[in-house]
Amino acid sequence: LNAVPGVGSYEAKVMFVGEGPGFDEDHKGEPFVGKSGQLLDKIMESIGLSRRTVFIANIVKCHPMKDSSNPEARGNDRPPSPEEIAACRPYLDEQIRRINPRVIVTLGAVPAHVLLATDAPISKIRGQWRSYRPQGGDADIKLLPTFHPAALLRNPDLKRDVWSDMKSLREHLAS
Ligand code: URA
Repeated sequence: LNAVPGVGSYEAKVMFVGEGPGFDEDHKGEPFVGKSGQLLDKIMESIGLSRRTVFIANIVKCHPMKDSSNPEARGNDRPPSPEEIAACRPYLDEQIRRINPRVIVTLGAVPAHVLLATDAPISKIRGQWRSYRPQGGDADIKLLPTFHPAALLRNPDLKRDVWSDMKSLREHLAS
């Protein structure tokens, strides 16, 4: 059982924020290394980004398990609880302050809902430029919500929207 704080560059212009580590991430101590992560790598590559040039983190830093006495079981995942989200928030905010990226891209509903303090459906808010100011931060940071790569694995029709969001990100970074 590992903490999974994040991976990438502290000079990153783009920070991707997911929900929380799963089985593979827990075992490797690195975010997005399972099937979703392989797709995230391809999505980033499509606009010239990589795991080494961005920073990738999650809302929670430990694998939320249905049965925490059994970290070797597959399919033992659950969404993070409000308490876990609150416990990890100061750590995430400090990561955001230190990296101070130009853009935060949230992956899926959980990080969008947490950072934007909304419960609007992800399908309604994805692709819309918002902003986020971390606790103790002195400026707003642009935030772009998009779908989670796991959603694309379940429903490939969503790839079109994520591609549109990545083009929007690329244009913003070039401006
Ligand atoms: N899904 C997430 O939200 N984060 C990870 O690190 C892996 C899968």
